[in-house]
Amino acid sequence: MEITTYRDLQSKDELLPLFQHAFWWSFNPSEFDETIHADPRLRSSPVGFAALSCNRVVGFVGVMDIETRTLQRSVEAVGGVWGVVTSPTHARKGVFKALMMRSHDYFEEQGYKFSLLYTSKILIAHAFYKRLGYRDVAAHSSAYKLMGGTTKPPQRIEKKEKVDWSRIQRIYNQATENCTGFVVRDREYGKMLETRKRIQPEKTIVTDKGYVLLKASEGVTFVQELIALTKKDVGNLVTRVEERTEKAVIDQKVQDKNAMDTYQSRGYIILKKGYDLLMSKQLTTATFRETYGPQFYATSADFF
Ligand SMILES: CC(C)(COP(=O)(O)OP(=O)(O)OC[C@H]1O[C@@H](n2cnc3c(N)ncnc32)[C@H](O)[C@@H]1OP(=O)(O)O)[C@@H](O)C(=O)NCCC(=O)NCCS
Repeated sequence: MEITTYRDLQSKDELLPLFQHAFWWSFNPSEFDETIHADPRLRSSPVGFAALSCNRVVGFVGVMDIETRTLQRSVEAVGGVWGVVTSPTHARKGVFKALMMRSHDYFEEQGYKFSLLYTSKILIAHAFYKRLGYRDVAAHSSAYKLMGGTTKPPQRIEKKEKVDWSRIQRIYNQATENCTGFVVRDREYGKMLETRKRIQPEKTIVTDKGYVLLKASEGVTFVQELIALTKKDVGNLVTRVEERTEKAVIDQKVQDKNAMDTYQSRGYIILKKGYDLLMSKQLTTATFRETYGPQFYATSADFF
Protein backbone atom coordinates (compact mmCIF):
# COMPACT_ATOMS: atom_id res chain seq x y z
CA MET A 1 0.00 0.00 0.00
CA GLU A 2 1.24 3.45 -0.94
CA ILE A 3 0.25 6.72 0.76
CA THR A 4 0.16 10.02 -1.10
CA THR A 5 -1.05 13.51 -0.26
CA TYR A 6 -4.33 14.73 -1.74
CA ARG A 7 -2.39 17.42 -3.60
CA ASP A 8 -0.20 14.80 -5.33
CA LEU A 9 -3.05 12.37 -5.96
CA GLN A 10 -3.57 11.88 -9.71
CA SER A 11 -6.93 10.11 -9.59
CA LYS A 12 -8.90 12.46 -7.31
CA ASP A 13 -12.15 11.38 -9.04
CA GLU A 14 -11.86 7.99 -7.32
CA LEU A 15 -12.70 9.68 -4.02
CA LEU A 16 -16.28 10.25 -5.24
CA PRO A 17 -17.64 6.75 -4.43
CA LEU A 18 -15.87 6.72 -1.05
CA PHE A 19 -17.21 10.10 0.06
CA GLN A 20 -20.63 9.43 -1.45
CA HIS A 21 -21.13 6.21 0.49
CA ALA A 22 -19.64 7.37 3.77
CA PHE A 23 -20.88 10.98 3.93
CA TRP A 24 -23.55 11.39 1.19
CA TRP A 25 -21.13 13.90 -0.29
CA SER A 26 -21.10 14.13 -4.10
CA PHE A 27 -17.45 15.04 -4.18
CA ASN A 28 -16.23 17.02 -7.16
CA PRO A 29 -12.47 17.79 -7.34
CA SER A 30 -12.79 21.11 -9.17
CA GLU A 31 -15.50 22.39 -6.82
CA PHE A 32 -13.37 21.20 -3.92
CA ASP A 33 -10.43 23.25 -5.25
CA GLU A 34 -12.52 26.35 -4.51
CA THR A 35 -13.11 25.08 -0.98
CA ILE A 36 -9.39 24.51 -0.43
CA HIS A 37 -8.71 28.03 -1.60
CA ALA A 38 -11.50 29.54 0.55
CA ASP A 39 -10.86 27.60 3.75
CA PRO A 40 -7.92 28.90 5.81
CA ARG A 41 -7.80 25.53 7.56
CA LEU A 42 -7.01 23.71 4.29
CA ARG A 43 -5.16 26.32 2.28
CA SER A 44 -1.62 25.41 3.35
CA SER A 45 -2.15 21.80 4.38
CA PRO A 46 -1.62 18.63 2.29
CA VAL A 47 -5.48 18.52 2.47
CA GLY A 48 -5.35 14.81 3.24
CA PHE A 49 -3.66 11.49 2.71
CA ALA A 50 -4.92 8.84 0.30
CA ALA A 51 -4.05 5.15 0.41
CA LEU A 52 -3.45 3.46 -2.94
CA SER A 53 -3.50 -0.25 -3.65
CA CYS A 54 -2.70 -1.37 -7.22
CA ASN A 55 -2.97 2.32 -8.16
CA ARG A 56 -6.58 2.55 -6.92
CA VAL A 57 -7.68 4.80 -4.06
CA VAL A 58 -8.76 2.59 -1.16
CA GLY A 59 -8.83 5.01 1.75
CA PHE A 60 -8.59 8.64 2.79
CA VAL A 61 -7.95 10.77 5.88
CA GLY A 62 -8.26 14.56 5.57
CA VAL A 63 -6.01 16.94 7.52
CA MET A 64 -6.44 20.61 8.44
CA ASP A 65 -4.50 23.28 10.29
CA ILE A 66 -6.83 25.01 12.74
CA GLU A 67 -6.16 28.02 14.95
CA THR A 68 -7.55 27.86 18.48
CA ARG A 69 -7.43 30.16 21.51
CA THR A 70 -5.98 28.82 24.75
CA LEU A 71 -6.57 29.71 28.42
CA GLN A 72 -3.48 31.96 28.19
CA ARG A 73 -5.23 33.74 25.29
CA SER A 74 -2.49 32.63 22.91
CA VAL A 75 -3.28 31.35 19.42
CA GLU A 76 -2.44 27.65 19.21
CA ALA A 77 -2.55 25.86 15.87
CA VAL A 78 -3.76 22.27 16.09
CA GLY A 79 -4.37 19.45 13.65
CA GLY A 80 -7.87 18.61 12.47
CA VAL A 81 -8.86 15.23 11.02
CA TRP A 82 -11.83 15.03 8.62
CA GLY A 83 -13.25 12.78 5.87
CA VAL A 84 -12.05 9.45 7.30
CA VAL A 85 -13.06 6.56 5.06
CA THR A 86 -11.83 3.16 3.84
CA SER A 87 -13.25 1.40 0.80
CA PRO A 88 -15.31 -1.65 1.87
CA THR A 89 -13.10 -3.76 -0.44
CA HIS A 90 -10.13 -2.97 1.82
CA ALA A 91 -11.81 -2.87 5.24
CA ARG A 92 -9.96 -4.28 8.24
CA LYS A 93 -6.59 -4.33 6.49
CA GLY A 94 -5.08 -1.48 8.50
CA VAL A 95 -5.73 1.27 5.90
CA PHE A 96 -7.38 3.63 8.41
CA LYS A 97 -4.68 3.03 11.00
CA ALA A 98 -1.84 3.70 8.50
CA LEU A 99 -3.51 6.91 7.25
CA MET A 100 -4.20 8.17 10.78
CA MET A 101 -0.57 7.57 11.72
CA ARG A 102 0.60 9.45 8.63
CA SER A 103 -1.71 12.33 9.63
CA HIS A 104 -0.27 12.39 13.16
CA ASP A 105 3.24 12.50 11.65
CA TYR A 106 2.20 15.57 9.65
CA PHE A 107 0.79 17.27 12.76
CA GLU A 108 3.97 16.48 14.71
CA GLU A 109 6.11 17.90 11.88
CA GLN A 110 4.04 21.10 12.22
CA GLY A 111 4.71 21.15 15.98
CA TYR A 112 1.03 20.77 16.93
CA LYS A 113 0.09 19.74 20.46
CA PHE A 114 -3.24 18.16 19.57
CA SER A 115 -5.04 16.31 16.83
CA LEU A 116 -8.78 17.01 16.99
CA LEU A 117 -11.68 15.38 15.19
CA TYR A 118 -15.45 15.23 15.21
CA THR A 119 -17.26 11.94 15.31
CA SER A 120 -20.45 10.45 16.63
CA LYS A 121 -20.96 7.99 19.47
CA ILE A 122 -22.99 5.78 17.16
CA LEU A 123 -20.11 5.18 14.72
CA ILE A 124 -17.80 2.20 15.04
CA ALA A 125 -14.96 4.62 14.30
CA HIS A 126 -15.44 6.14 17.79
CA ALA A 127 -13.95 3.00 19.35
CA PHE A 128 -11.11 2.91 16.79
CA TYR A 129 -10.16 6.52 17.57
CA LYS A 130 -9.98 5.62 21.27
CA ARG A 131 -7.56 2.82 20.42
CA LEU A 132 -5.37 5.38 18.67
CA GLY A 133 -5.23 7.51 21.81
CA TYR A 134 -8.12 9.93 21.22
CA ARG A 135 -10.27 11.00 24.18
CA ASP A 136 -13.75 12.57 24.24
CA VAL A 137 -13.26 16.23 25.12
CA ALA A 138 -16.60 17.85 24.32
CA ALA A 139 -20.06 16.45 23.79
CA HIS A 140 -22.59 18.84 22.35
CA SER A 141 -26.21 19.30 23.33
CA SER A 142 -28.74 19.53 20.53
CA ALA A 143 -32.26 20.94 20.25
CA TYR A 144 -35.13 19.88 17.97
CA LYS A 145 -38.61 21.26 17.41
CA LEU A 146 -41.27 19.96 15.07
CA MET A 147 -43.25 22.90 13.78
CA GLY A 148 -46.16 20.63 12.98
CA GLY A 149 -47.75 23.11 10.61
CA THR A 150 -49.72 21.63 7.77
CA THR A 151 -49.78 24.95 6.00
CA LYS A 152 -46.66 26.57 4.68
CA PRO A 153 -45.47 29.74 6.44
CA PRO A 154 -46.08 32.87 4.36
CA GLN A 155 -43.72 32.87 1.42
CA ARG A 156 -41.00 35.39 2.04
CA ILE A 157 -39.02 36.90 -0.74
CA GLU A 158 -35.50 36.51 0.55
CA LYS A 159 -33.53 39.45 -0.70
CA LYS A 160 -30.16 38.50 -2.14
CA GLU A 161 -28.45 41.11 -0.01
CA LYS A 162 -24.81 40.70 0.83
CA VAL A 163 -24.27 39.41 4.33
CA ASP A 164 -22.75 42.01 6.65
CA TRP A 165 -19.81 39.85 7.74
CA SER A 166 -18.08 42.79 9.48
CA ARG A 167 -21.04 43.22 11.81
CA ILE A 168 -21.31 39.48 12.39
CA GLN A 169 -17.60 39.32 13.16
CA ARG A 170 -17.95 42.17 15.69
CA ILE A 171 -20.81 40.41 17.50
CA TYR A 172 -18.94 37.09 17.38
CA ASN A 173 -15.76 38.64 18.82
CA GLN A 174 -17.71 40.28 21.62
CA ALA A 175 -19.61 37.10 22.50
CA THR A 176 -16.54 34.84 22.44
CA GLU A 177 -14.09 37.34 23.97
CA ASN A 178 -13.43 35.22 27.06
CA CYS A 179 -13.76 31.80 25.45
CA THR A 180 -11.19 29.21 24.52
CA GLY A 181 -11.63 26.95 21.51
CA PHE A 182 -12.41 27.51 17.83
CA VAL A 183 -12.77 31.25 18.29
CA VAL A 184 -9.94 32.56 16.10
CA ARG A 185 -11.72 33.88 13.01
CA ASP A 186 -11.51 36.73 10.59
CA ARG A 187 -14.05 38.11 8.10
CA GLU A 188 -12.97 35.51 5.54
CA TYR A 189 -14.48 32.79 7.73
CA GLY A 190 -18.01 33.77 6.78
CA LYS A 191 -17.15 33.80 3.08
CA MET A 192 -15.68 30.33 3.51
CA LEU A 193 -18.96 29.10 5.02
CA GLU A 194 -20.74 30.47 1.95
CA THR A 195 -18.30 28.76 -0.46
CA ARG A 196 -18.56 25.48 1.45
CA LYS A 197 -22.38 25.77 1.38
CA ARG A 198 -22.45 25.30 5.13
CA ILE A 199 -24.88 28.21 5.29
CA GLN A 200 -27.34 29.85 2.93
CA PRO A 201 -26.35 33.52 2.99
CA GLU A 202 -29.84 34.70 1.94
CA LYS A 203 -31.28 33.11 5.10
CA THR A 204 -28.93 34.90 7.49
CA ILE A 205 -30.67 37.11 10.04
CA VAL A 206 -28.64 39.92 11.60
CA THR A 207 -29.91 42.27 14.30
CA ASP A 208 -28.09 44.93 16.34
CA LYS A 209 -27.04 42.46 18.99
CA GLY A 210 -27.13 39.08 17.37
CA TYR A 211 -27.28 36.94 14.29
CA VAL A 212 -28.18 33.47 13.15
CA LEU A 213 -26.58 31.50 10.30
CA LEU A 214 -28.94 28.97 8.73
CA LYS A 215 -29.15 26.18 6.25
CA ALA A 216 -32.53 24.85 5.16
CA SER A 217 -33.60 21.80 3.25
CA GLU A 218 -37.09 20.43 2.55
CA GLY A 219 -38.80 22.56 5.19
CA VAL A 220 -36.23 21.82 7.91
CA THR A 221 -34.06 24.66 9.17
CA PHE A 222 -30.63 23.88 10.61
CA VAL A 223 -29.23 26.50 12.97
CA GLN A 224 -25.52 26.57 12.13
CA GLU A 225 -24.68 29.36 14.57
CA LEU A 226 -26.88 31.50 16.77
CA ILE A 227 -25.12 34.21 18.72
CA ALA A 228 -26.74 37.07 20.58
CA LEU A 229 -25.49 39.31 23.33
CA THR A 230 -28.68 39.17 25.44
CA LYS A 231 -31.31 36.55 26.19
CA LYS A 232 -33.98 38.81 24.69
CA ASP A 233 -32.10 38.88 21.39
CA VAL A 234 -31.74 35.09 21.43
CA GLY A 235 -35.54 34.89 21.84
CA ASN A 236 -36.14 37.30 18.96
CA LEU A 237 -33.85 35.37 16.65
CA VAL A 238 -35.45 32.01 17.53
CA THR A 239 -38.90 33.51 16.87
CA ARG A 240 -37.78 34.72 13.45
CA VAL A 241 -36.27 31.33 12.60
CA GLU A 242 -39.50 29.55 13.62
CA GLU A 243 -41.60 31.97 11.55
CA ARG A 244 -39.66 30.95 8.46
CA THR A 245 -39.73 27.22 9.11
CA GLU A 246 -42.30 24.81 7.82
CA LYS A 247 -41.41 21.43 9.36
CA ALA A 248 -38.65 21.47 11.98
CA VAL A 249 -35.90 23.55 13.54
CA ILE A 250 -32.70 21.69 14.46
CA ASP A 251 -29.71 23.10 16.34
CA GLN A 252 -27.12 20.33 16.58
CA LYS A 253 -24.57 22.15 18.71
CA VAL A 254 -26.13 24.43 21.29
CA GLN A 255 -23.19 26.22 22.84
CA ASP A 256 -24.80 29.14 24.55
CA LYS A 257 -26.71 28.96 27.88
CA ASN A 258 -29.20 31.63 26.78
CA ALA A 259 -29.96 29.64 23.64
CA MET A 260 -30.44 26.44 25.64
CA ASP A 261 -32.79 28.20 28.11
CA THR A 262 -34.77 29.65 25.21
CA TYR A 263 -35.09 26.30 23.43
CA GLN A 264 -36.13 24.63 26.70
CA SER A 265 -38.77 27.24 27.48
CA ARG A 266 -40.23 26.79 23.98
CA GLY A 267 -40.66 23.05 24.24
CA TYR A 268 -37.76 21.90 22.08
CA ILE A 269 -36.64 18.28 22.47
CA ILE A 270 -33.21 18.56 24.07
CA LEU A 271 -30.49 15.94 23.87
CA LYS A 272 -27.92 16.83 26.50
CA LYS A 273 -24.50 15.56 25.47
CA GLY A 274 -26.00 13.92 22.44
CA TYR A 275 -24.35 12.04 19.61
CA ASP A 276 -21.72 14.47 18.31
CA LEU A 277 -18.34 14.45 19.96
CA LEU A 278 -15.13 16.36 19.71
CA MET A 279 -12.17 14.06 20.36
CA SER A 280 -8.56 15.01 21.00
CA LYS A 281 -5.27 13.14 20.84
CA GLN A 282 -2.42 14.63 22.82
CA LEU A 283 0.76 14.86 20.72
CA THR A 284 3.05 16.37 23.39
CA THR A 285 2.96 16.55 27.18
CA ALA A 286 0.36 19.37 27.29
CA THR A 287 -3.10 18.13 28.19
CA PHE A 288 -6.30 19.39 26.57
CA ARG A 289 -7.81 20.59 29.87
CA GLU A 290 -4.63 22.45 30.94
CA THR A 291 -4.59 24.16 27.55
CA TYR A 292 -8.28 25.02 27.12
CA GLY A 293 -9.95 24.66 30.53
CA PRO A 294 -13.32 22.96 31.05
CA GLN A 295 -15.18 24.66 28.14
CA PHE A 296 -14.09 24.55 24.50
CA TYR A 297 -16.17 26.85 22.33
CA ALA A 298 -17.42 25.46 19.02
CA THR A 299 -20.60 25.80 16.97
CA SER A 300 -21.88 23.88 13.95
CA ALA A 301 -20.15 26.51 11.82
CA ASP A 302 -16.82 25.13 13.11
CA PHE A 303 -17.64 21.54 12.24
CA PHE A 304 -15.12 19.82 9.96
C1 LIG B 1 -13.88 3.54 10.28
C2 LIG B 1 -13.15 2.99 9.05
C3 LIG B 1 -12.46 4.17 8.36
C4 LIG B 1 -12.13 1.94 9.51
O1 LIG B 1 -11.33 1.62 8.39
P1 LIG B 1 -10.41 0.30 8.26
O2 LIG B 1 -9.39 0.63 7.24
O3 LIG B 1 -11.27 -0.86 8.04
O4 LIG B 1 -9.75 0.19 9.71
P2 LIG B 1 -8.42 -0.57 10.07
O5 LIG B 1 -8.34 -1.81 9.24
O6 LIG B 1 -7.25 0.35 10.01
O7 LIG B 1 -8.74 -0.97 11.54
C5 LIG B 1 -8.48 -0.18 12.67
C6 LIG B 1 -8.85 -1.00 13.90
O8 LIG B 1 -10.22 -1.30 13.93
C7 LIG B 1 -10.48 -2.72 13.88
N1 LIG B 1 -11.60 -2.90 12.97
C8 LIG B 1 -11.73 -2.46 11.71
N2 LIG B 1 -12.96 -2.74 11.23
C9 LIG B 1 -13.61 -3.41 12.22
C10 LIG B 1 -14.90 -3.98 12.34
N3 LIG B 1 -15.79 -3.92 11.33
N4 LIG B 1 -15.24 -4.56 13.52
C11 LIG B 1 -14.38 -4.61 14.55
N5 LIG B 1 -13.14 -4.08 14.49
C12 LIG B 1 -12.74 -3.50 13.33
C13 LIG B 1 -9.21 -3.31 13.38
O9 LIG B 1 -9.08 -4.61 13.90
C14 LIG B 1 -8.16 -2.35 13.93
O10 LIG B 1 -7.90 -2.65 15.28
P3 LIG B 1 -6.41 -2.90 15.81
O11 LIG B 1 -6.10 -1.73 16.69
O12 LIG B 1 -6.54 -4.17 16.55
O13 LIG B 1 -5.51 -2.99 14.62
C15 LIG B 1 -14.14 2.32 8.05
O14 LIG B 1 -14.90 1.38 8.76
C16 LIG B 1 -15.08 3.27 7.34
O15 LIG B 1 -14.78 3.76 6.25
N6 LIG B 1 -16.26 3.57 7.93
C17 LIG B 1 -17.27 4.44 7.31
C18 LIG B 1 -16.88 5.90 7.36
C19 LIG B 1 -16.76 6.40 8.80
O16 LIG B 1 -17.53 6.07 9.67
N7 LIG B 1 -15.77 7.28 9.00
C20 LIG B 1 -15.50 7.89 10.28
C21 LIG B 1 -16.25 9.16 10.38
S1 LIG B 1 -15.90 10.00 11.89
